Amino acid sequence: MDATAANLLLEHHRRHARDLPWRMTPRDPYRTWLSEVMLQQTTVATVTPRFLRFVERWPTVEALAAAPDEDILGEWAGLGYYARARNLIACARAVAERGAFPTTEVELRKLPGLGAYTAAAVAAIAFGEDAAAIDTNVERVAARVFAIADRKAAGEAAKGWFPAGHHGEFAEALMDLGSNICRPKAPNCQVCPIAAHCRARALGCPEAFPAAKVK
Ligand code: ADE
Repeated sequence: MDATAANLLLEHHRRHARDLPWRMTPRDPYRTWLSEVMLQQTTVATVTPRFLRFVERWPTVEALAAAPDEDILGEWAGLGYYARARNLIACARAVAERGAFPTTEVELRKLPGLGAYTAAAVAAIAFGEDAAAIDTNVERVAARVFAIADRKAAGEAAKGWFPAGHHGEFAEALMDLGSNICRPKAPNCQVCPIAAHCRARALGCPEAFPAAKVK
């Protein structure tokens, strides 16, 4: 895997990381988890004000777990996809019941409604575990860097690209790259810190990766 590109991306991220309200130091697992659930299929711009309202109203997972369903569902309105809010409630109550968030990907995955991506993201970002959080943005960036047409194969290849000891930081670097520069359409390769390491760019067609789904 391309360790040089990974280091360049980390260096770039340390200078240009977006200042987002869940990116505090030290990381709070509750805020990390809540932001990751909200960010599934919803943009950072939409999520940011809603996230701030949520944590003001319910500053801890215990507070959220104790809230009536209808209050939480009401606060969720507009974020779409109600099943996510139902899972959020179930998960908050399971965490409050056990006393704290589990600290590993394997244990996080056992919480109700917590999928592979979210378990890895929380383990890596909040607890510093070397767990690779692979979402569609990461798949797209890896598909281009390694010129792998198949989205899922690109996600698998990305796992070996995460630098040991920096999985959380690298996941956020990939998310920022995917949303600011390596966008689905019209990627802005002129300002990409790893353009010189990108095989899809060398082939002259970054937008062709990953290949469109066959319907
Ligand atoms: N999308 C999913 N998770 C994110 C995060 N932690 N920061 C920014 N965008 C994201």
